[in-house]
Amino acid sequence: MIVHSHFDINDRDHLTIGGADAVDLANTYGTPAYILDENVIRENCRIYKKAAAESFGADALPLYASKALCFTAIYRIAAEEGLGVDCVSGGELYTAKKAGFPAERIYFHGNNKTDLDIADAMDMGVGTFVVDNFDELSALSAEAVRRGITQRILLRITPGIDPHTHRAIMTGNVDSKFGSAIVTGQAMEIVKAAIAAEGIDLAGLHCHIGSQIFDIEPFSDAADIMVRFIADIRRACNYEIREFNLGGGLGVRYTEYDREIDYAAAIRDIAAVVTGYCKEHNIPMPRVILEPGRSLVAAAGATLYTVGSVKEIPGFRKYVSVDGGMPDNPRYALYQSRYTALIANRASAPRTEKVTIAGRCCESGDLIGEDMELSSAKRGDILAVLVTGAYNYSMASNYNRLPRPPVIMVKDGEARIAVRRESYEDLTRNDLM
Ligand code: LLP
Repeated sequence: MIVHSHFDINDRDHLTIGGADAVDLANTYGTPAYILDENVIRENCRIYKKAAAESFGADALPLYASKALCFTAIYRIAAEEGLGVDCVSGGELYTAKKAGFPAERIYFHGNNKTDLDIADAMDMGVGTFVVDNFDELSALSAEAVRRGITQRILLRITPGIDPHTHRAIMTGNVDSKFGSAIVTGQAMEIVKAAIAAEGIDLAGLHCHIGSQIFDIEPFSDAADIMVRFIADIRRACNYEIREFNLGGGLGVRYTEYDREIDYAAAIRDIAAVVTGYCKEHNIPMPRVILEPGRSLVAAAGATLYTVGSVKEIPGFRKYVSVDGGMPDNPRYALYQSRYTALIANRASAPRTEKVTIAGRCCESGDLIGEDMELSSAKRGDILAVLVTGAYNYSMASNYNRLPRPPVIMVKDGEARIAVRRESYEDLTRNDLM
């Protein structure tokens, strides 16, 4: 096991991903390539589904936040596993529709839905809009009235929690492009407006406090604030909030230095506090929705690269360059995210060097990571970066006109292409002049 149990080493001293030999995968599909262990994704969906039902009741629904990793087959997996999905754009909605995902189980997010997005989503019969602001509420109400329908919505509320320094200032997060804050009074105003709006059924509230969170405390704090707010709504408006979406955000183990989260236990702990707060405020327990992205798909993934130049700068550092980089994984450039890397064709070699893994773009910041523990690498080696299932493919670009890598799904040791590699022709397909 390397970081997660589906990453292992076989008797050829090769890394295996879900039982498939990573070097064979690289030889068959080329590099760079994203590999995904389908069983891990399905298992994570089942953990969430079971724990949500046991902890919050049979009507609880986990949604897969599909911004984490979006392509057609992933919506089929989410549908088969009985999850809903969170979509944030016309493109995600279109992909979900193509996959035949049941529209009533789609929650449509986003802080700036265009009129076209709203119309497309209504054409599709999207079950729930998560409304961010007054402008959206008015536009949605007008379109619903025009169509003679009632659109079910949640309102996105900012509880004022900063999940990293949440003990400091509780309003740290009020200055956000997302949602309406409770402390400014705007949340109550939009609730009143939604109750009064024609063509709108206000089913409940949504909050999302952040991502890659390892502690339960920020979730409990958010639940505390949100349940108080639900009680305030009952008092001020005599209106019952029937659904409470707690957002996503549970963390994932990227390196041996990260903790492993027991998601079922975390959901149980969060449920205990939500139930407790509802009792305390004497409000009926709403239907609870969870919205994980990263924790469903991150661990399932790995990216395979081929090592190119290896350059030692005496007194400075060693650069190991690979045939991908920030276009397929922008997370170090954006967030200094830490990953685990190893040489897949000498997988058990001790990782005794500290190197900078660089991409192939014309940009110094194009790094997969610095101070990364690695065994000695040489040109032609297959380098694997683990736990790249979330926010890699979905954030990939064609910078420097690099084609996006394929997504290869491994199930019980067998591999299939879920998304083919982009070709140079794909890159010029839309160039009309
Ligand atoms: N719900 C909402 C409204 C969200 O905005 C997000 C993530 C999620 C759910 C899912 O959160 P998760 O369970 O994946 O933490 N690109 C960044 C992460 C951005 C997260 C955006 N919102 C990264 O690569 O770390």
